[in-house]
Amino acid sequence: MTALTLSTSAAPGLRADAIVVGVAKGSASTSGDLVVAPGAEAVDDAYDGKLAGVLETLGASGAEGEVTKLPAPADFKAPLVVAVGLGEEPEEGTAYDTETLRKAAGVAARALAGTKKAAFALPVADADAIAALGEGVLLGAYSFDVYKENGDAESKNGKAPLAEAALLGGKPRDKEYKAALERAVAVSEELNRARDLVNTPPNDLDPAAFAALARTAAEEHGLKVQVLDEKALVKGGYGGILGVGGGSASTPRLVKLSYTHPDADKHLALVGKGITYDSGGISLKPAGHNETMKCDMAGAAAVFAAVVAAARLGLEVNVTGWLALAENMPSGSAVRPGDVLRMYSGKTVEVLNTDAEGRLVLADALWAASAEEPDALVDVATLTGAMMVALGNRTFGIMANDDELRAAVHETAEEVGEPAWQMPLPEHLRKGMDSPTADIANVGERMGGGLVAGLFLREFIGDGIAWAHLDIAGPAFNEQGPFGYTPKGGTGTAVRTLVRLAERMAADELD
Ligand code: BES
Ligand code: MN
Ligand code: ZN
Repeated sequence: MTALTLSTSAAPGLRADAIVVGVAKGSASTSGDLVVAPGAEAVDDAYDGKLAGVLETLGASGAEGEVTKLPAPADFKAPLVVAVGLGEEPEEGTAYDTETLRKAAGVAARALAGTKKAAFALPVADADAIAALGEGVLLGAYSFDVYKENGDAESKNGKAPLAEAALLGGKPRDKEYKAALERAVAVSEELNRARDLVNTPPNDLDPAAFAALARTAAEEHGLKVQVLDEKALVKGGYGGILGVGGGSASTPRLVKLSYTHPDADKHLALVGKGITYDSGGISLKPAGHNETMKCDMAGAAAVFAAVVAAARLGLEVNVTGWLALAENMPSGSAVRPGDVLRMYSGKTVEVLNTDAEGRLVLADALWAASAEEPDALVDVATLTGAMMVALGNRTFGIMANDDELRAAVHETAEEVGEPAWQMPLPEHLRKGMDSPTADIANVGERMGGGLVAGLFLREFIGDGIAWAHLDIAGPAFNEQGPFGYTPKGGTGTAVRTLVRLAERMAADELD
């Protein structure tokens, strides 16, 4: 991963391969002309104050995502200046918002792949800005090339990721700045680990392999870990996880990761959908719908990353992560449409569609998590195509049995720069899941399918527990081109929301 440093050096004398500056569309007060963003004054001076004009000549507009490269002034040690668009200049007296900085740093870091060292001369108003730039660089420079065998290490995915980034204006001796950067590094490293897990092909990441990684990480970070294997799941009566995992040669697991702080008085429980591959089972998905289904464990990956990040940050809150791991495959031992499963909660479920498997594994994990009576219970799942239809592929849906928790999750997601939207759980959709045979069926009305799934999950939440459900089917896996600090493939969505939620609980900002 890219090495980050805070630097007070001035751009001209810096030994680097490139200097990154920001360029924005001027506000009314600057008559709408292109403006060079604060932080790059020394660079602009070296162009005799004409950098904005030079960039305009080169066709720059200041739009977000735009990259313009130009030769550095002759007396600079660095040969290249990279101008990254910041969108509209903020109004006078206001700073650039953190998400704008995060995205710009991500775009620049990606544009600098193949470069050894870059200095970022972007606007730094406070420690939050440094954190955003740090996250943007680490997340934007990410690449997954474990399986690229052709070429040398450098050229595996085209170019090696940016090796080193110096953040200018970053007060290296200021405690607050240092802490902000350390947090950014811990969260980004874990988020990138979640991306790696999502990108790892399903033949190399089955439930047992995922559980083994959880064990290793738990040892490294002092977490308690408990892994229920198939035998233990049978003994415990986890009918949902066993039903879904029954068709696969790779047996299912339920992993419980616990981070505890001696002074904590709050407990956050996180549950992740961990379908290491979703073929649909006997209700098999057609070709065209199964090529990216290695991503169906993105919820479990996000939960895993968030628990480890909480431990690395030493948060004063207890965080338990439950990973519901299974592979959904068709075979002679697979669950059939028409089968009835007895779930861990004791409820019976008629499985009418084996492709609605996520809710079955989650139901068992949610009930197990409920037994510990956490202060809040949050699940994360690539649960429904319907949520993608509703919200597109960059926004996750938030459903809950508690208005305050739903609003708090939404607010938290906005704060960290993860697009999310609150969705309802309309009572009238519940009866579509009435089953003539069992307590409930695993599918209901097609319309509002994402909400139906949420209503199903709600049946497996313990009494009086505040629960929120994040359907990340849209943003979990980016099939289009990279944008901002988001790469192609696994995105790590929800990790930052979960970590921030744990921090807010530790600070008693949630009740
Ligand atoms: N894993 C899928 C949902 C999904 C689809 C995630 C596309 C990411 C991208 C889930 O298990 C599923 O198959 N859901 C079904 C539910 C239906 C059978 C009620 C769906 O959405 O079609
Ligand atoms: Mn499915
Ligand atoms: Zn699935």
